[in-house]
Amino acid sequence: MQSWVIGNWKQNPATQHAVNTLIDELQEAMSASLAPSCQLMVAPSFIHLAAVAAQLNETDILCGAQDVSAHSASTGAYTGDVSAAQVQDTGAHWTILGHSERRQYHHEDHDTLVQKMNHALHQGLGVIFCIGESQQQYDAKETLDVLDTQLKVIAEVTQNLDDTTVLSEKLIVAYEPVWAIGTGKVPTVVEVSDTHAHIKQTLASYHHALGSTAVLYGGSVNADNAPDFAASDVVDGALVGGASLKAASFLAIAEAFAATKGNK
Ligand code: PGA
Repeated sequence: MQSWVIGNWKQNPATQHAVNTLIDELQEAMSASLAPSCQLMVAPSFIHLAAVAAQLNETDILCGAQDVSAHSASTGAYTGDVSAAQVQDTGAHWTILGHSERRQYHHEDHDTLVQKMNHALHQGLGVIFCIGESQQQYDAKETLDVLDTQLKVIAEVTQNLDDTTVLSEKLIVAYEPVWAIGTGKVPTVVEVSDTHAHIKQTLASYHHALGSTAVLYGGSVNADNAPDFAASDVVDGALVGGASLKAASFLAIAEAFAATKGNK
């Protein structure tokens, strides 16, 4: 079974020089045995996207963006925005959408995310769609209700899609409890497994092609806890923030998933 380990670099690193160093270190340290059982991807900030996509072209590491414009899939008068077509043109073939930091700081809501996902899929980009509950919602045991509401973006996009065959290959869901992101706090593997099982069931109820969607866990994943998450049958990989900024920790997480999933 193939797993995914995706590095969300957020607004890091500070310089092109540091980006180059990180890419060089990843390529030098990455073992050839990783490729069949764990697919690696990195998502740099827009300023570094084209350079990283070019550097990773013809390597086993994929490149994705962290967002696309909601306003237009191609071009237009949208200052500061970057479209799905422009991302595709860099050679990056994926994008993260709906990250909790976008939801929080940019007030991205259901309608915005439907537009973004439509544009991304229309331009042939794969989408890593992030969902997750806040600490308050977790404490109030509202997690599954919150996720069901957030997943409705996928339900709506699926309903209006001409070609549903793209869904199984072009969609990944990342479950990231907001309270676990960058905090060092993580839910138990049992909690994550129950939540992932629910997400998979919900996706399958939308469309049979979504039944095999990869569901990743994200939020304070590191080299120490990755083997525990990898051991769960319903955790298909990890979306990694902080630990993706060092080649050694990012690759250790990937090795953990490759070791477990490669045997299944
Ligand atoms: P973290 O971030 O690994 O630093 O917690 C994960 C994410 O935000 O995708």
